[in-house]
Amino acid sequence: YHVDWDPASAEKGGFSSFMEKEINDQPDAVAQTLLGRSDLDGKLTLDELRIDPELLKQVNKIIVLACGTAAYAGTVAKYAIENWCRIPTEVELAHEFRYRDPILDENTLVVSISQSGETMDTLMAVRYAREQGAKTISICNTNGSTIPRESDAVLYTHAGPEIAVASTKAFLAQITAAYLLGLYLAQLRGNIFSGQIKDVLADLNKIPAKIQTILDSAGPLRELARSMANEKSVLFLGRHVGYPVALEGALKLKEIAYIHAEGFAAGELKHGPIALIDDGQPVFVVVPSPRGRDSLHAKVVSNIQEVRARGARTLVIAEEGDEAVKAYAEYVFYVPETPTLLMPLLTTVPLQIFAAELAAAKGYDVDQPRNLAKSVTVE
Ligand code: G6P
Repeated sequence: YHVDWDPASAEKGGFSSFMEKEINDQPDAVAQTLLGRSDLDGKLTLDELRIDPELLKQVNKIIVLACGTAAYAGTVAKYAIENWCRIPTEVELAHEFRYRDPILDENTLVVSISQSGETMDTLMAVRYAREQGAKTISICNTNGSTIPRESDAVLYTHAGPEIAVASTKAFLAQITAAYLLGLYLAQLRGNIFSGQIKDVLADLNKIPAKIQTILDSAGPLRELARSMANEKSVLFLGRHVGYPVALEGALKLKEIAYIHAEGFAAGELKHGPIALIDDGQPVFVVVPSPRGRDSLHAKVVSNIQEVRARGARTLVIAEEGDEAVKAYAEYVFYVPETPTLLMPLLTTVPLQIFAAELAAAKGYDVDQPRNLAKSVTVE
């Protein structure tokens, strides 16, 4: 009797790659990052930050710094923090920030985001910010790594070790941690009612099961990905928090499938990118909830129409129950309902699956893409 067993495939938990395993780990990554950080009354308990709450109340500007995927988590953070805390929030690539004499002082809060905690560009930016007197909080997945050690405070993401070079579960955990930080600041400063914080926390706690639903319904999406293995270029459109999701969808495809991919803010389409659309051009569109208060949804639906009218293949990520997109979509992937600000935790997942499946169909090493390193410790 013989059992095929090798340590590498055992570590992958039966999945074909670490990336597939990590995509499937995401319900847990989000749940673990939420765990123990609020009480039953719906109050955030981030005492682990060990930073004087009075100092946080003085903050009048937030700068989020990161590189790569972590920077897209930072863009999601900007929308959430500004919405809940009403503090002006910028997000900037760490390597751009350092070389432009940024304006910061002791009332500036710098939030760095890094899976590894070792990215040199991000570390140098944090050092610079501290020298200028800014407060620094890092959101990080690696215990005891350099960036948290050099920051005033750290909020760990509890995604567990991420092995695949292309980041997946760390991204969702970073977004989750950024939401917690945003809600915590809002709670400290009295920006939003405690009932509202409680509601957002309740919605966050429902996310892991919703991610599982997405993972369980990805069969047709995987089929679509395999059928597109010979594409030369794929475009991604999104608005509001769907914009960083579009950028992340494009980045995943570049990183592991080596396909030219670009993400755009949907509103920018008419200012240039629409010239790229011709017959058969695949375009993913990340659609906000139709239950949102403003015209965001209608705007994106008309963007789908615009590219469709010019011959694009429209591949749509929308919320369950959104019938309006059907008429203009070649393909729709529905994600469960959730408030608009939290949607990236769901809408990112199909785009990760799409990239991983397509790269595998091309026969590439999904975990170790050419030319890339998991942690970039040079400037
Ligand atoms: C590298 C990795 C990316 C990652 C980026 C930032 O480029 O290949 O996947 O997003 O670094 O890494 P960090 O560890 O700071 O999140």
